Amino acid sequence: MSNMVLPPIQIVPTSAASDAPGFGAEVRGIDLRSLSEVAFASIEQAWIDHQVLLFRDQRLTDHDLIMFARRFGDLDQAPIQENGQRFVAGIPEIYVVSNVVENGVAIGSLGAGEAVWHTDMSYLEAPPKASMLHALEVPAAGGDTSFCDMYAAFDSLPETLRRRAIGLRVKHDGTYNSGGYLRQGVIPSDDPRDAPGRLHPLVCTHPESGRRMLYLGRRRMAWIGGMDVAASEALLDEIWAHATQAAFTWTHRWRVGDLVLWDNRCTMHRRDPFDAAARRIMHRTQISGSAPPAG
Ligand code: SIN
Repeated sequence: MSNMVLPPIQIVPTSAASDAPGFGAEVRGIDLRSLSEVAFASIEQAWIDHQVLLFRDQRLTDHDLIMFARRFGDLDQAPIQENGQRFVAGIPEIYVVSNVVENGVAIGSLGAGEAVWHTDMSYLEAPPKASMLHALEVPAAGGDTSFCDMYAAFDSLPETLRRRAIGLRVKHDGTYNSGGYLRQGVIPSDDPRDAPGRLHPLVCTHPESGRRMLYLGRRRMAWIGGMDVAASEALLDEIWAHATQAAFTWTHRWRVGDLVLWDNRCTMHRRDPFDAAARRIMHRTQISGSAPPAG
């Protein structure tokens, strides 16, 4: 065993979102394949504090990715992909986000189009608490991923809107994924009240930080429980326009080897479209949530 003294981990805030100080940070000086307990504890705390963490120059096998993700807790099995396939062979926890087609078969989900603002799998009773994406191939342009700080979105709500939002519950629709593709086995409906999904509080409290945040999920087919659909649409439009302002967001330009880890409870994310002829391959894991989001 080497006695070499490793340089300390550096946590460098992105300072990218003008009205969300502290949102997002780059973690430098580590190899995610060989983290000590102390180093992992620093990363876990930084993830709570900064919500989204970027690690550059990580060259992880799927096994390495799973081993790192498992340090945060149990992993979800990946959802079924749009082509009906479920998993990377033998590794059911890995979800492939890719536009690449091999031998006429898409190897992943979401294609090359825009992926709209969303929180991963919020249509479940207990959505994943974290997600991480590892970049294996990236296009020369496009395909950037933006993250939005839902603490800042709540903290800056105009008082009248805040008073209206507290106590409401929103239906998180499970009909479509963020690329607009119908999920396997779902029969679509035009009425958000009939669509599959869960009601969660619109304003939630983060179980670890204790901070309050907006919890929106995704806009399409959302519905404020008990409200007339037209009134629900108007209020959701107002809240969404507020929450997705550039002042609360950080946009990440990917490089091969990047790993981005986000707190799925207090952030949303979206992805820019890119040239469908270019290749983009990301492998994703998700850490299971232990409880439904609470108000
Ligand atoms: C996702 O929405 O989980 C994928 C985001 C991306 O492709 O950058």
